[in-house]
Amino acid sequence: MSNDKFSTPDISHLRQEDFEHVYEPAEDTFLFLDALVQEHDFLEKRKPTCCVEVGCGSGMCITFLAKMLGTSAAMYWCTDINPLAALAAKRTAQQNGVTVIPVLTDLVECLKPRLKHQVDVLLFNPPYVVTPPEEVGSSGIEASWAGGYHGREVMDRLFPQIPDILSPQGIFYLVIIKENKADEIEGIMKGYGYKMWTLLILSSTGFILWDSSQTLGIDVFSNILFPNVQVFLWAVEWSPYRIADEKAHSHNVIL
Ligand SMILES: C[S@@+](CC[C@H](N)C(=O)[O-])C[C@H]1O[C@@H](n2cnc3c(N)ncnc32)[C@H](O)[C@@H]1O
Repeated sequence: MSNDKFSTPDISHLRQEDFEHVYEPAEDTFLFLDALVQEHDFLEKRKPTCCVEVGCGSGMCITFLAKMLGTSAAMYWCTDINPLAALAAKRTAQQNGVTVIPVLTDLVECLKPRLKHQVDVLLFNPPYVVTPPEEVGSSGIEASWAGGYHGREVMDRLFPQIPDILSPQGIFYLVIIKENKADEIEGIMKGYGYKMWTLLILSSTGFILWDSSQTLGIDVFSNILFPNVQVFLWAVEWSPYRIADEKAHSHNVIL
């Protein structure tokens, strides 16, 4: 494994002033990168040709994915509702020598006609914080965290669109917190034919817990053994392929 492929993208071109308007990479961002590293072999085998990040912020995650998987055979798109985030993401990709196409849009709205059933990898670290509903809907820095009711108001609008944009072998990676009610999300996605499993969990004490795919098991762990768990990272995948890849995709539990 070359270090460069897995190194954190350089964001030295972004200044503190930029982060007054654009989400500054934080624990959840880095958890996402860790999950993508964990998924490297699995993703590489699938040879994705179309990768999209919704809510790119600084562009750290999509740039990392592009660096990790390479840009010769795949296109990378990202969207944000915040124009300064779309701009920052473009600069981050350039700074790291990869091509990412930023699109200023609500979720995947402008990409839908073009990317119908085309997206092999979809990333979303959404605004997941529980806030008063009236805080949702800004296109400024508040859009980074304001999730409204159960912290779900933004992500809930994306879920029904996923079957339209994911390719038959597509995979969707999502960051959520406990308050977002993972079991409900699992139920919603199941209704669309997807199976969800946990990749990584970050506890407030900074431990990353690696899971072998047992969503229920992790819920039990998090509630009983790790009451401080704050950030969960879940992955959702088209179920027929999930079953076929069950063996290839299983992860070790390190507790
Ligand atoms: C928690 S931040 C994550 C930023 C970046 N992906 C990261 O991991 O560091 C959530 C991002 O979603 C964007 N966002 C919020 N609502 C959105 C929407 N309706 N459509 C597109 N992007 C949105 C925010 O502007 C923000 O950049």
